[in-house]
Amino acid sequence: MKKLHLLIVFLISSIMAFAGEGMWIPMLLQYNEKEMQEMGMRITADDIYSINHSSLKDAIVLFGGGCTGEIVSDYGLLLTNHHCGYDWIQKHSSVEHDYLTNGFWAMDRSQELPCPGLTVTILREMRDVTEKVTFNVNDDMEEKERQQLIDENMKKLIAEVEKTTDYKVSIKPYFLGNEYYLLLNEVFTDVRLVGCPPSNIGKFGGDTDNWVWPRHTGDFSVFRVYADKDGHPATYSADNVPYKPAKHLDVSLKGADEGDFAFVFGYPARTSEYLPAVAVDQEANVIDPIAVRLRGEILDIYNQYQEQDRKVRIQYASKHAGLGNGWKKWMGVTEGINHFHGVEKKRFYEESFQDWCYQSRQRYLYINLLKQFDEKYKALEPYKVAYTYLTNAGLNIEIFDFAGNFNKLSKFTADTPSEEVEQTIASLKKASAAFFKDYYQPIDEEVAKTMLREYLEHQSADFRPSFLNEIKDVDAYVEILFKKSMFASEEKVNDFLDNFKPKHLKKLQKDPALLAYQSMIDFYLDVVNPKMKPINDDLARMQRLYMKGQMLMEPEKRFSPDANFTLRVTYGKVEGFKPQDGKNYRHFTTLEGIMEKENPDIYDYVVEPRLKELYNNKDYGRYADKDGTMHVAFTASVHTTGGNSGSPILNADGQLLGLNFDRCWEGTMSDLIYDPDICRNISVDIRYVLFIMDKFAGAKHLVDEMTIVE
Ligand code: ARG
Ligand code: ASP
Repeated sequence: MKKLHLLIVFLISSIMAFAGEGMWIPMLLQYNEKEMQEMGMRITADDIYSINHSSLKDAIVLFGGGCTGEIVSDYGLLLTNHHCGYDWIQKHSSVEHDYLTNGFWAMDRSQELPCPGLTVTILREMRDVTEKVTFNVNDDMEEKERQQLIDENMKKLIAEVEKTTDYKVSIKPYFLGNEYYLLLNEVFTDVRLVGCPPSNIGKFGGDTDNWVWPRHTGDFSVFRVYADKDGHPATYSADNVPYKPAKHLDVSLKGADEGDFAFVFGYPARTSEYLPAVAVDQEANVIDPIAVRLRGEILDIYNQYQEQDRKVRIQYASKHAGLGNGWKKWMGVTEGINHFHGVEKKRFYEESFQDWCYQSRQRYLYINLLKQFDEKYKALEPYKVAYTYLTNAGLNIEIFDFAGNFNKLSKFTADTPSEEVEQTIASLKKASAAFFKDYYQPIDEEVAKTMLREYLEHQSADFRPSFLNEIKDVDAYVEILFKKSMFASEEKVNDFLDNFKPKHLKKLQKDPALLAYQSMIDFYLDVVNPKMKPINDDLARMQRLYMKGQMLMEPEKRFSPDANFTLRVTYGKVEGFKPQDGKNYRHFTTLEGIMEKENPDIYDYVVEPRLKELYNNKDYGRYADKDGTMHVAFTASVHTTGGNSGSPILNADGQLLGLNFDRCWEGTMSDLIYDPDICRNISVDIRYVLFIMDKFAGAKHLVDEMTIVE
């Protein structure tokens, strides 16, 4: 029986470790090289990552704090997604210069727009420092003692290396704390906006199409990295010069065919592929559905008002996008996990892990893990649920969240130094202006009624903030709340801030919206966190051991560490998919599809006259596919996640095919379990990017900077 089980485990795990799964450490890519080449790659692991000569890695950057970008010329020209550059485009936009709506193109370098605060980070080298970091550490130690030793070892090591380099030195855990790597990074601080298409290209399809295939979004924007005259990072100066990278990416105009090898090189943020079944089940079948239901109700309310009023549509666009991104993704997670029988497959695997534990006394460390996982996650569940309600129901009531800004002020006394009071008042004035600019009270009232009702119906008295336990009639409470709280009225808030005196604090302290906010925070600090924290600490230790156990059980298998916002390579094939019986998705979309989706009445589907003209004249120049059409986006079976946005997707020769920007929602479970049959990443075709730059925007000088392979 045991043998049979083990055999099945190996079968399953080899199926699970199918090409396509895995976010690989670039310095260890030689172990994947054979498989990559068998799949069609014509370059070597050393061409992708090397510290001895220039390699593709020298062109890949962490863009800001959350996306990836790539350098495509010897003059520091950088590509990333439109949604990654969005904040910076917005910062430079005004009524006179509405770059969000109209796009922006610097026609020469003097027109490029500085973006103070934006950084671009390039990895110079990574080193395996596991032995040094875990020196004198063992698994029998008390967890606290163990962590202290690790922290000390890391600190020492970083200090040592810092003496020898100007690069930024950091150490990150991999494999849930079983391995450690040291990273040497160069951080550039003079980064300028060079260009972006109008939003109806860069965000075409908006939130309706978000996470969805077929997709037609021209999701790209263009920046440039500047350095001092010696090529070193420097803060903004007119004297800085475009940064010359050790390597820039070549751009292919050949496109990709179904089945072609492709890889993505970038900064995936977070995946959890080694969770036990109980955790995946909880995530997919308890937590995500609650968040989806709550957010769905809020989005319904938003939609209803947004449809009626143009102004409201704009006011709630970004809030809608924020809530909608998670809402749609988590729906996909639940559906994907259940469709794939992900929990059952994990359980099956765990039975074999348990058998493996029983086979040797030396495996005592692992023997109770799975049982304890079940217990710990069960204990965690009500608090996780409470936390989900708090963040998705309670804090999505805008008046509560806004009142929270005044919490600090409400704790001031007559003795608080006047300078501190003045500073606080000034920053609250700013927060208030920003809040009311995008606030529509009827929406918030309705959201408040719906969310509070949800809360009272589904969370028992011990698992909700205490203010809720005093509410007898939700409608009456909400009506009084909005009548009595000053936070419902811009006038009242401004009046309060303009004429602030310490004696007014009493009034603030009694405001029902602020009281509700405080009740929520107290609930988190006094009830939720004290219960969750020790369990989560235990779980972190157990997950580290479980990871180690799995690696010991299958010594021949190559494991890929969960994403942790460090540079990774992932690879697969350009291919479509069959998300459902009878549905068969082709791997690419074209400009025809943009014309099909066109709807001048719906903001997200407006097509620019210039784009239509190019379409009507089939004026695609050298950017057309060999089939004569203009390809817009394509899917591939490459394992990506948040943070991979903006990452280059490259062909067998390491040339740029496109920019990764999303996944298909049917496969968003890939953060928990990767299934090569339904998990697809979505990229914008580089030929569409260049077509928009050159033909649509007349910024051919940017294309001319690049190395184009026809
Ligand atoms: N779903 C993609 C990613 O998380 C893209 C989000 C931006 N696009 C949008 N239409 N909201 O994160
Ligand atoms: N859209 C994501 C990002 O912004 C990518 C993904 O989750 O697939 O990083």
